[in-house]
Amino acid sequence: MKNKVLESLYEKKGEFVSIDELTSQLGFEHSQILDHIKTLKKEGYTINISNDAFQLNEELTLILPHKLKSILDTSRIGNEIHYFREVDSTNEVAKKLAIDGAPEGTVVIAESQSKGRGRRGKKWISPMGGAWMSVILRPDILPINAPQLTFTAGVAAAKTLKDEYGLEVGIKWPNDILIDNKKVCGILTEISTERDAIDYMVIGIGIDVNIDLGSFPPELKDTATSIKSELRDGDVSRMILVQKFLENFEEIYNEFSKGNFHSILNKWREYSKTIGSSVEVKTGTKIIKGEAVGVNSDGALIVELNNGSLEKIISGECRHVA
Ligand code: BTN
Repeated sequence: MKNKVLESLYEKKGEFVSIDELTSQLGFEHSQILDHIKTLKKEGYTINISNDAFQLNEELTLILPHKLKSILDTSRIGNEIHYFREVDSTNEVAKKLAIDGAPEGTVVIAESQSKGRGRRGKKWISPMGGAWMSVILRPDILPINAPQLTFTAGVAAAKTLKDEYGLEVGIKWPNDILIDNKKVCGILTEISTERDAIDYMVIGIGIDVNIDLGSFPPELKDTATSIKSELRDGDVSRMILVQKFLENFEEIYNEFSKGNFHSILNKWREYSKTIGSSVEVKTGTKIIKGEAVGVNSDGALIVELNNGSLEKIISGECRHVA
């Protein structure tokens, strides 16, 4: 039923459609129309309301790939954009495209994901209103250096949120973007190797953009946030956000391709909220507690234990403890 309301608003997108017009067209009661509008807004549709009339704001509701392509100022990232209303996971779609030979820079974007994946086998909740995308890369580096590209994407995401919205962002090792210690963006990098070379990499980026905190599941309520909730100023254009992220990512990836990872890592250190914090890091086998004192040139976290010795952690789940 709510889809009927959506269709009617779509037909007249950009225009205000009065509640009386909707009731007579669809045969619903006023209260039913209002309920459907509420549900659609919760699902991520941007609907403006004025004097009992409703207007679907298509540019704020959808990412509009053709428009995105026309404004995107990059030379390789986003040359090919695959756009979906819903997929299982953009990383899965990107991997299939990469196996079929998709070129470096190919981007997969979805309005929602039914099986979004996070790091360490976790589920990634991906309703409409977020920016869920994956970028295919084919870097000429050794597989052991692949995590460096996760740092590169993390710096691009942090820079985008800071420059575009003035948000005070920080990065939690290895690649969570935080605002006030709450996660707003996560990155999942997957890699396929052939002998000692990288065949392809897929960098998946998930940003909670126009998502109401009330729609996060209870276990995320205290640890996650969204751009909308931080700005307290209504929805932002996800299309512009994706555009700016891809442009920043290309610029920083070009630096990486020139061999300047050390300067990217220095930027990462500037954003880092982990260095200098007390941390607990869960690795496959143990929990390491201590003070994070730095990251080395491979991006491994260096933790000083209570007995003064240093531990190098290549991968793990880090928690900042007060
Ligand atoms: C994390 O656990 O922090 C990583 C989350 C990564 C989520 C993104 S959303 C787009 C891409 N597709 C996925 O299934 N996951 C990544």
